[in-house]
Amino acid sequence: MRADVVIIGSGISGAVLAERYSKAGKKVLILEKRDHIGGNCYDYIDENGILVSKYGAHLFHTDMKEVWEYVNRFSDWYPWEHKVLAKVDDQLVPIPVNINTVNKLFGLTISTEEEMIEWLEKNRLPIKDPKNGKEAVLDKVGPVLYEKMFRHYTKKQWDKYPEELNASVLNRIPVRTNTDDRYFSDRFQALPKHGYTKIFEKMLDHPNITVKLNTDYFDVMDKLIGYTKLFYTGPIDRFFEFKHSLEDKLEYRSINFVSETVDSEFFQSNSVVNYPGREVDFTRIVEYKHFGKQKSEKTTIVKEYTTDEGDPYYPVLNEKNLAIYQKYQEEAAKVKDVYFVGRLANYKYFNMDQAFKNALDLFHSLEGDSDANLEEKL
Ligand code: FDA
Repeated sequence: MRADVVIIGSGISGAVLAERYSKAGKKVLILEKRDHIGGNCYDYIDENGILVSKYGAHLFHTDMKEVWEYVNRFSDWYPWEHKVLAKVDDQLVPIPVNINTVNKLFGLTISTEEEMIEWLEKNRLPIKDPKNGKEAVLDKVGPVLYEKMFRHYTKKQWDKYPEELNASVLNRIPVRTNTDDRYFSDRFQALPKHGYTKIFEKMLDHPNITVKLNTDYFDVMDKLIGYTKLFYTGPIDRFFEFKHSLEDKLEYRSINFVSETVDSEFFQSNSVVNYPGREVDFTRIVEYKHFGKQKSEKTTIVKEYTTDEGDPYYPVLNEKNLAIYQKYQEEAAKVKDVYFVGRLANYKYFNMDQAFKNALDLFHSLEGDSDANLEEKL
C-alpha cells in the first residue's frame, strides 16, 4: 500500500487532513477499521426513514469563525439551538440549570437575574479552589441540586461519584442566572442539512484520496510503504501496545446505544431528555425525529447506557489516568514522522469544532500553507 500520507481513522481529524493534503497534491491513504467513514459523527437513515446518529446525537456549535466557514464548504446547514430537558422528580426541567429549572423544582417565582444570584448565594456552599467534581458542584449550586441533578448522573456517566473526578469535568457544566435555556451559548449553532456522513463523503471525494474500510492499521502496518507522514487518530495507548498501562489501564467510558421503534408520532416533547436520577440506568433518551423536524409515521428513540465495555468514547480525566497519559505523550513525541491527532490520540475531550480546528492547525503548522495558496495549487 503506497501513499505520500497515511491517515489512520476517517473521523473529523482524519478527514480534514486528507482533504487538505489531497488538495495540496499529495496521495493520501486512509485506513478505517469500521465499515463506514465519519468516525463518531456517522449518521444514516434508519428503518423508519429517520436520520439517526450511530454514536449519539451530534450538535454542532462553535465560536470559531474559521471553523464555521470551513464546514460550510461541505454542506448547507440549518440553524439549531439545542435544548435539553431533564426528568427530575417526575417533572421536565431545562438544563443547564437556569431560573426556570429552580422555579419548577422548588415552586418559586424568581424572575430576575438578581433574585437568581441571591438564591444561588443562599444555597451554594462556597469552596475556594474546588479539589474535585463534588466540590465544584457544591460551590456552584449547593447540596440539593447536587443530589437531584449531578450526583447520580455523574455516577451513571462515569461510574465514579463526582468526588472521584477532577473538578474540571463538572466545572464545564454552566449554571445560568437568566432564563437562557440553550444548551450551548456559542455564536454558530447548526445542523448539516443532509447529515454528517454526506459532509465526510464530500471531504473525501478527491482522486488523490483512497479510503480502505474494515482495515485495522495494526493488521497492515508492515505493508505500508513510501509515506513521509502518518497521522494516527486512534487511542494513544493502543499505538504503544498498552505498554504503560499493563497494571493500571488508561480508562475510557463507552456507551451502549439501545434503539427502539415507537409506534406513535412522537415519544417525548424534546429531542433529548436526560435522566439524572437513580430510578433508571440510562443517562438520556434521544428522539432523532425532532432534529430538522423529520416526518415519519413512527419514531425512533435511543436510550444511552454508559459502560466500560465497547468503543472508547470518553477519556476519564483523573490524576491517575493523566499520569499514565503523560508517559504515552512523552513516547509519542519521540516517534518520527507520526502525528497523534484528535480526541483519542490526545486523550482529551474534543467537541467537533475543536477537532476541526486542531487538525486544520496541525496541517497549517506542518505545511505552512495558507488556505489561499492551497486553493491556487488546485
Ligand atoms: P473519531 O473517534 O470520530 O474518529 C477516529 C476514527 O479512527 C474512528 O472512525 C475509528 O474507527 C478509527 N480508528 C481508530 N483506531 C483505528 C485503527 N487501529 N485502524 C483504523 N482505524 C482506526 N461533539 C460536538 O461538538 N457535539 C456533540 O453533540 C457531540 N456529541 C458526541 C456524542 C458522543 C457519544 C461522542 C462519543 C462524541 C460526541 N462529540 C460531540 C464529539 C465528536 O464525536 C468528536 O469531536 C469527533 O468525533 C472527534 O473526531 P476524531 O476524528 O478525533 O475521532
